Amino acid sequence: MRIYCGQIDENLINTNVEVYGWVHRVRNLGGIIFIDLRDREGLVQVIVDPEKNELAEIASKLHNEYVIHVCGKVRARPEGIINNDLKSGKIEIDPKTLEIISTSEPLPFPINEKQNTSEDLRLKYRYLDLRKPEMAKNFILRAKIAKYMRQFLDDNGFIEIETPILTKSTPEGARDYLVPSRVHKGEFYALPQSPQIFKQLLMVAGFDRYYQIARCFRDEDLRADRQPEFTQLDVEMSFVTARDIQNLHEELLRHLFLKILNVELPNPFPRLTYKEAMGKYGSDKPDLRIPLEFVEINDLVKNSEFSVFQTAANSETGRVIALNIPNGSVLSRKQIDNYTQFVSDYGLKGLGYLKVNDLAEGINGVQSSLLKFLTPESVLEILKRTQSKNGDMIFFGASDAKIVNNAFGALRVKLGFDLNLVEKTWQPLWVTDFPLFEEQDGRWTSTHHPFTAPINEDPKELLKNPGKSLAQAYDMVLNGSELGGGSIRICNMELQQATFEILGFSKESYESQFGHLLNAFKYGYPRHGGIAFGLDRIAMLMAGVDSLRDVIAFPKTQTAQCPLTDAPSKVSDTQLKELGIMTK
Ligand code: AMO
Repeated sequence: MRIYCGQIDENLINTNVEVYGWVHRVRNLGGIIFIDLRDREGLVQVIVDPEKNELAEIASKLHNEYVIHVCGKVRARPEGIINNDLKSGKIEIDPKTLEIISTSEPLPFPINEKQNTSEDLRLKYRYLDLRKPEMAKNFILRAKIAKYMRQFLDDNGFIEIETPILTKSTPEGARDYLVPSRVHKGEFYALPQSPQIFKQLLMVAGFDRYYQIARCFRDEDLRADRQPEFTQLDVEMSFVTARDIQNLHEELLRHLFLKILNVELPNPFPRLTYKEAMGKYGSDKPDLRIPLEFVEINDLVKNSEFSVFQTAANSETGRVIALNIPNGSVLSRKQIDNYTQFVSDYGLKGLGYLKVNDLAEGINGVQSSLLKFLTPESVLEILKRTQSKNGDMIFFGASDAKIVNNAFGALRVKLGFDLNLVEKTWQPLWVTDFPLFEEQDGRWTSTHHPFTAPINEDPKELLKNPGKSLAQAYDMVLNGSELGGGSIRICNMELQQATFEILGFSKESYESQFGHLLNAFKYGYPRHGGIAFGLDRIAMLMAGVDSLRDVIAFPKTQTAQCPLTDAPSKVSDTQLKELGIMTK
């Protein structure tokens, strides 16, 4: 029978099998040749006996990464050479025929051992890098994720529809990738940052449950969890509430985790408003595996003689917090200095701290250079609010709330990992009620995108106070990563126009950019909403890897290049001429 190397196990003992694969490793031990043969599913051992002259001669020519074809009988491995780490570790193949299909030059980096190969070299020879069993595993997992997503959505009455790649700008907060038109010189298509407007138009078309596994393109600064080209599971639904959308999609996540990892996620997922998330964790994507929470102490330090505390506590945009670290007293002076440097990178000027030595001794049982600035009552109240125990350490952060949140949000995660406080669980949650707009350089920008409905859908109210408006928007977060986000959409032309005005569009400019959407408002516009998940991010978390590059077959580097194809690259003068483009 034809079978994958990695699928053969003791159930097939005495069966004749036929396999194709790459030589992972070959060893000659006293005339017996041991071949580890590899395909995408894993490894199997083929043993060539020196007495089988013809086969031994072929086997003696083998080197790593030769492609071979083997037919033979599966037999049990002798005791002592059983490898319980491999599915095929209890068996080996006794070959009847052995054929070399293709030879290989020595590789630019080894596949059969762990080595710190540079990312550039791995990506230049990505087809070799992908041969590594640990990489192949990620892509098999990724395919399963897409399969179970489709299965779940199909079962729930969704229709898969494709939307254009050559299109017009869809604002999601990044720069567009542009494609010049040959036929219309001087004009450009934009690659979609998401299918947002098209999926809304599909609701107007009456396809009340749409999904697509969609490629999106965003020209933005790249990080380990951001690629210029990535894949979303994109969904839109009509005649539903935000809760309906959330309930269905947490069920989807539970389905994926159960089917693929045999993990039961919580039911229901916990929920936090944006305000609660920022209040407790300083982040809108809190990692709930880390059991550390901010404690507000503004009221206790308003009259402190320490001006940093006093200024922040009395400012409308300021914030003073305490963060209790269980057993944190073990931190050395040097470690504390390092954390002080760490928070200073986020703009926090200092990191106050207090050691909890012995609670029974009250104020005499704590140690801190800040004590002279705090009343004993406020110190005791801080200990109570933080629920500190002997041996704990309390860090203090005081500044503008934005700076405190950024600095302590990051510090919380760093401490969690440094001190091994991260629980080994999966911690999903919803974050809801985001601000509709954010202020940037004196202008309003959408926190999500301009089609997100405010909670109060009255256009006049919105225009009166955009900064106070909350959005009918929600993000799904898992272990500190934003997996997906969505919203109920604006379904009223006046409200949509008001939103564009707040964002600084003139009537002329919003009509030229979004006229196709605004027109649709006139012809029977259903109430709708949706969500999109980063498929790459889900795969990254489920595979337990740290970079999206490990779950994207041909990813780009940190500088948005592809070392394999050398893209982006220059094009010929003829091509440029045809496009009516001159480069400087
Ligand atoms: P948003 O911009 O939040 O929403 O994107 C949804 C999800 O896509 C993933 N993602 C990325 N993954 C990899 N690389 C990137 N550069 C990148 N950018 C985003 C994240 C994110 O949560 N149209 C809206 C959705 C909606 O409102 O329905 C949208 O695109 O996991």
